[in-house]
Amino acid sequence: MSVLSGKKIVLGVTAGIAAYKTTYLVRLFVKSGAEVKVVMTPSAKEFVTPLTLSTLSKNEVHSSFTNEEDDNAQWNNHVALALWADLFVIAPATANTLSKMAHGTCDNLLLAVYLSAKCPVYYAPAMDLDMYQHPSTKATFKTLASFGNIQIPATHGELASGLVGQGRMAEPEDILAFLEAEIGKNLPLKGKKIVITAGPTYEAIDPVRFIGNHSSGKMGYAIADEAANLGAEVILVSGPSHVVLKNSFVNTISVLSAKEMYVAVHEHFNTCDVAILSAAVADYRSKTVASEKIKKKEGALILQLEKTDDILASLGKIKTNQFLVGFALETQNELENAKSKLEKKNLDLIVLNSLKDKGAGFKGDTNKVTFITKDNKVVPFSVKPKTEVAKDILQYILQQIHA
Ligand code: CTP
Repeated sequence: MSVLSGKKIVLGVTAGIAAYKTTYLVRLFVKSGAEVKVVMTPSAKEFVTPLTLSTLSKNEVHSSFTNEEDDNAQWNNHVALALWADLFVIAPATANTLSKMAHGTCDNLLLAVYLSAKCPVYYAPAMDLDMYQHPSTKATFKTLASFGNIQIPATHGELASGLVGQGRMAEPEDILAFLEAEIGKNLPLKGKKIVITAGPTYEAIDPVRFIGNHSSGKMGYAIADEAANLGAEVILVSGPSHVVLKNSFVNTISVLSAKEMYVAVHEHFNTCDVAILSAAVADYRSKTVASEKIKKKEGALILQLEKTDDILASLGKIKTNQFLVGFALETQNELENAKSKLEKKNLDLIVLNSLKDKGAGFKGDTNKVTFITKDNKVVPFSVKPKTEVAKDILQYILQQIHA
């Protein structure tokens, strides 16, 4: 998944030959999960049609302050459009538009959006080589940099004039990669490694049977997704789960048993900054695993169970700087039990969910949790989607590790 997923992008298209490439650019933005609205300068419409861009972006394209064709002409609200955007990308950006941006000129909708924008502004210059080298253009770049606008540098190559030199707009794929890298480096968990466990474990009895539980893995997967969206390197150690995670920034290690989960987690714990153990690990496994399917016989079958290793407790014993988070699923004396787990397992935070609460538990899409912190603070939350609970957990961790 791209870091642009869910982002709102206003794409400003100005009158350069490279405007035809914005059809690909819009497609790439949409494919990466972004929502795109296009504004054009009036002359840009001679290079690429609003119809093409509105079809590809699935949004109306605006190029003037009012809809001229409409008798009840409506004002195109540039302020609303600018405030809607998470990022404003101007590509291609001609020398003319860049100069107007540098000087505060506001004679078209695109420039009005630019002047109203509070979000990061990126621009991809496109012009002939001599225009690119002109001292006036260089001064424009300097002024725009002083406004905090970020340039996506033009490349060297054949230009519309037939000359060869610097001034070609960066290719759409390169614009996308540039934006992803820029946004990625500013994410709050950039450079942090997080290990997360999720799902149940299956403890084999024989080749076809196991001891398991009803955990779906939804909570842990939501945490992994959110952590990756915040820029972390994520190692998700997952027991069997049907959840499909479409986030290419999450490295999933699939395991079956508590033993396998223990090994995978320990492999990464030393080098991680945060570990969040949300898996419902089996506390017991069969002492022996039959090599052949156990046949039914008269009378009862007695299975002898032995304890699995407590992964969370083992991490609590060896942790140095890692921020360690555990989960507690309780049915009685919830707070008391959770607090004692926090202490016994040497945790920094325990996330309590009670099976008594409506909307909490294993299979659903919602959860109701209470945080118990190392300094004994109890923070209850309302019932919310597991994706929102994941956000609450990571926001708390962010506050703590950046404090
Ligand atoms: N956990 C673990 N390894 C285990 C058992 C549990 O890492 N073998 C972790 C879970 O992922 C969870 C936390 O420990 O983060 C709490 O698990 P829970 O089963 O509620 O607690 P237990 O310590 O097993 O105690 P009890 O079953 O008595 O409630």
